[in-house]
Amino acid sequence: MQYTPMASKPKVVVTRKLPEAVEARLRRDYEPVFNPDDHVYSTDELIALADGADALLPCHSEHLDAGAIARLPASVKAIANFSVGVDHVDLDAAKARGIIVTNTPDVLSDATAEIALLLMLGAARRAAEGDRLVRTGEWRLWSPAFMVGRQITGKVLGIVGMGRVGQVTARRARGFDMQVHYHNRRRLPAEAEQGAEFHERLDSLLGACDVLSLHCPATAESHHLINAETIARLRPGLILVNTARGALVDDEALLEALRAGHVAAAGLDVFNGEPAIHPGYRELDNTFLLPHIGSATRETRDAMGFRALDNLDAVFAAREPGDRVA
Ligand code: DGY
Repeated sequence: MQYTPMASKPKVVVTRKLPEAVEARLRRDYEPVFNPDDHVYSTDELIALADGADALLPCHSEHLDAGAIARLPASVKAIANFSVGVDHVDLDAAKARGIIVTNTPDVLSDATAEIALLLMLGAARRAAEGDRLVRTGEWRLWSPAFMVGRQITGKVLGIVGMGRVGQVTARRARGFDMQVHYHNRRRLPAEAEQGAEFHERLDSLLGACDVLSLHCPATAESHHLINAETIARLRPGLILVNTARGALVDDEALLEALRAGHVAAAGLDVFNGEPAIHPGYRELDNTFLLPHIGSATRETRDAMGFRALDNLDAVFAAREPGDRVA
């Protein structure tokens, strides 16, 4: 659908607190409706606020399922997400209503890859356990047998989903002399592969790596990609890293494998039902857990906001937005 430029400033419902510079640009170019206390809106609140709005600028914390999309007023022309992941929006429902949906790819790849490496190292070297020992004063000794972890240097890193974040993670991992293998819907061109070994089938990747890092979007196909069956195919002692979405993992199956030591350790930044995560993860020493902070750097959060606004600017200038996903 094409839109003619508007005479007055478009009204935009901004669901969460955004960086100062992003909010300043919103004030300059739009009529923003901010969320002063940054609470997570219920669907009813969001629908009420959307009354007379031209666009929404949500985060992954808002769930715009088909029911919510159906209740949006006809004035809403665009949903400009402050996120690369769009699993919180029913894209088909938006498309059916002619609502443009955009995301913020590229700008968070470096920050998220940093967290993937942090999780890899933290899980492999027992960082959470060590930190706890020091903080609680329970650290009593040093011995050659104390807190021995796993080394990632020179190991095989398996990447599921070799998109932008996966590719940056692969580049950073090469700094640790890791050999990169990957599974992706399509094989990458050789210059993007940089020597990484492609596995057409996920099964073949699972048994080939020492560390497995998840970087694919949450879709119906990738739901519980890590489950009892796929875990059984992993090399014993593997380290699992997830910076993508909790929905990729069947928690019960992973917890069982962590308890048994079949999966040696897991570094997780994303969870099913977050922030109300499965309590089993907290009880284990071989988990290194972060609160969904993959993109949480000043630079990246500014860039995500500007990218979302670039998309909105395009919509309201009757141009095709660069990051349209529906
Ligand atoms: C994303 O952009 O998808 C991150 O997970 C933060 O929402």
